[in-house]
Amino acid sequence: MKRILITGASSGIGMYLANGYLAAGWHVIACGRSLSKLEGAISSAHPELTLCTFDINSQSDVLEALKPFTSLDSVILNAGTCEYMDDPLLFDSSLFKRVIETNVIGTGYCLEGLIGNINQGGQLAIVSSSVTLLPLTRSEAYGASKAALDYLTRTLAIDLSPKGIAVSLIRPGFVDTALTQKNTFSMPGIITGEQACKYIMQGLEKRKLEINFPKVFFFIMNLLSLLPNALWRRLAIKMIRAPE
Ligand SMILES: NC(=O)c1ccc[n+]([C@@H]2O[C@H](COP(=O)([O-])OP(=O)(O)OC[C@H]3O[C@@H](n4cnc5c(N)ncnc54)[C@H](OP(=O)(O)O)[C@@H]3O)[C@@H](O)[C@H]2O)c1
Repeated sequence: MKRILITGASSGIGMYLANGYLAAGWHVIACGRSLSKLEGAISSAHPELTLCTFDINSQSDVLEALKPFTSLDSVILNAGTCEYMDDPLLFDSSLFKRVIETNVIGTGYCLEGLIGNINQGGQLAIVSSSVTLLPLTRSEAYGASKAALDYLTRTLAIDLSPKGIAVSLIRPGFVDTALTQKNTFSMPGIITGEQACKYIMQGLEKRKLEINFPKVFFFIMNLLSLLPNALWRRLAIKMIRAPE
């Protein structure tokens, strides 16, 4: 039986992935901050489920909690947070630190604890975002954190290839989860968590280097990313909203 470890499994995309891999016959190690939230999110009575709790911001907690999980066939580093910078003139460095620490440094702690425990022929996937295709208003912190993950993942794809580990970069568009339910702007092409899970499972099955979805949204974002910077900046400025 194949073993997969998924972070951020207590809600949203990670929760659908944990349930999806259980249904597909894998042994799933589902990670989150809260045991009760994990138990509520996943078929917790399932014999092939192991729950694991830690706050990704604590290096010692992450390393201690991940120690028992050796011989992994697949790892999906999905835990993450999103906060927007509302006023660029009042640059909130605490918000910036929170987002970078959870999304980037926390991912680094998980890599330290897990990378040596992935089997030859195994897989590692990191969840970034389609935000990295274009600079978007209020995304100073979130966009920078995900751009860092893009670079990290692409570099790991090179360095882990000779070690027999396939690395995938996952870049979702808008997915209906707790993270996006607090957004008050329109989210074009938004899909359900189930649909996101299907895209990711299919992409990982094919050991794709990049898993970008939904397709039409990604195609449009990609086209826009080809515009000269100055032209995109003019369009993006039009998206700036007055504070509520
Ligand atoms: N939804 C989208 O439209 C979208 C688009 C692009 C990329 N993404 C990315 O997809 C990933 C999953 O997001 P989601 O939409 O499924 O959001 P979500 O429903 O809010 O889930 C986030 C998950 O990350 C965990 N997490 C957050 N901070 C943590 C911490 N300090 N320590 C340990 N776990 C922590 C959460 O655990 P708790 O339950 O304990 O909070 C939760 O399980 C994120 O990396 C996000 O940036 C989402």
